[in-house]
Amino acid sequence: MRILAFETTCDETSAAVLEGGRLRSNEVFSQISLHRKYSGVVPELASRAHLEKIPFVIGGALRRAGVRAPLKKGAFDAVAFSRGPGLPGALMVGRVAAEAAAELAGAPLVGVNHLEGHLLACEFAGGRASEPLEFPLVALLVSGGHTELWHARGYGDYRVLGRTRDDAAGEAFDKVAKLLGLPYPGGPAVEKEAARAAGKVPDFPRPHMPGTRDFSFSGLKTAVSYYLAGRLGQDFYKRGLRLPPGDRARVCRAFQDAVTETLVKKTADTARSLGLKRIAVGGGVSANGALRAAFARLQGFEVRFSERAYCSDNAAMVALCALRRLEAGKYRNSLRVAPGLADPGW
Ligand code: KG4
Ligand code: ZN
Repeated sequence: MRILAFETTCDETSAAVLEGGRLRSNEVFSQISLHRKYSGVVPELASRAHLEKIPFVIGGALRRAGVRAPLKKGAFDAVAFSRGPGLPGALMVGRVAAEAAAELAGAPLVGVNHLEGHLLACEFAGGRASEPLEFPLVALLVSGGHTELWHARGYGDYRVLGRTRDDAAGEAFDKVAKLLGLPYPGGPAVEKEAARAAGKVPDFPRPHMPGTRDFSFSGLKTAVSYYLAGRLGQDFYKRGLRLPPGDRARVCRAFQDAVTETLVKKTADTARSLGLKRIAVGGGVSANGALRAAFARLQGFEVRFSERAYCSDNAAMVALCALRRLEAGKYRNSLRVAPGLADPGW
């Protein structure tokens, strides 16, 4: 089974070829440098950059996989794309590219849920989809736009148990980094700073929100902002005032601890309440070393993460979702599905 896949939900333009469960290519063009000066993704710039880069990304993915261009009938058994959730203009670029490729190859078009991609990315080991997930499990999906807990009962059988009511975990990292004068994307920058922290760290609230499986991270971000205002003055951000490096590292550490503890506690409580022992964590934030270490310390659970290379957005994970669907014989030709539809089921 040979699958071509596209990923264009946010600020990575990616195309991949998966053949017989083995990744033949996974080209990723990251737009980070384009968005950095705005400290976040600018949707219109993202759409344009996808449009500009996608021909090169497709070309690279085909070349590396040894597939001749232009595509001939039968070149692929399926063409997959992330159909959402994501930025509308960005999604359209991947969808149109996938439609064209599917038409040329005479292959079915499979639209997949981007967050399902982050979950199934856990199955890759050394470029092979060789570590299948065992179900049922609780999935924690933590990215720049989403923070969700799913009850995953099998491939394509997902129920959303909780999600963030305001900022996503990754978004909180990005916004706190901006307040501290650290570059975009905030997650890796905050993690690096936090690793240098020494001494007592500030005390930030843990947004546990008892009685619900939902999350809320905007209060924590506000707590960081108040702390900085207390230290530097109300209009610190506008005036470009920043903490000395040692203090900044301690704020990063305290913030990261608060996010990590909240994610781990909520996920473990949810798994316990459902009587489940398996947890899988995916999405850009799952690259965070402190989060991985905190889950590793959890007793009584089997916790899966994807290899770091597949934590952030990539088309390999999209191809894998399509493969699992085709194997199950369960997919609908996405030409008939409205753009942007993003329910996590098949
Ligand atoms: O999944 P992803 O690549 O794109 C979306 O689907 O949004 O996630 C990007 C998010 C960004 O908010 C970024 O700051 C965060 O993942 N992130 C991290 C780390 N690496 C990326 N957050 C915390 N620690 C990291 N090491
Ligand atoms: Zn993502």
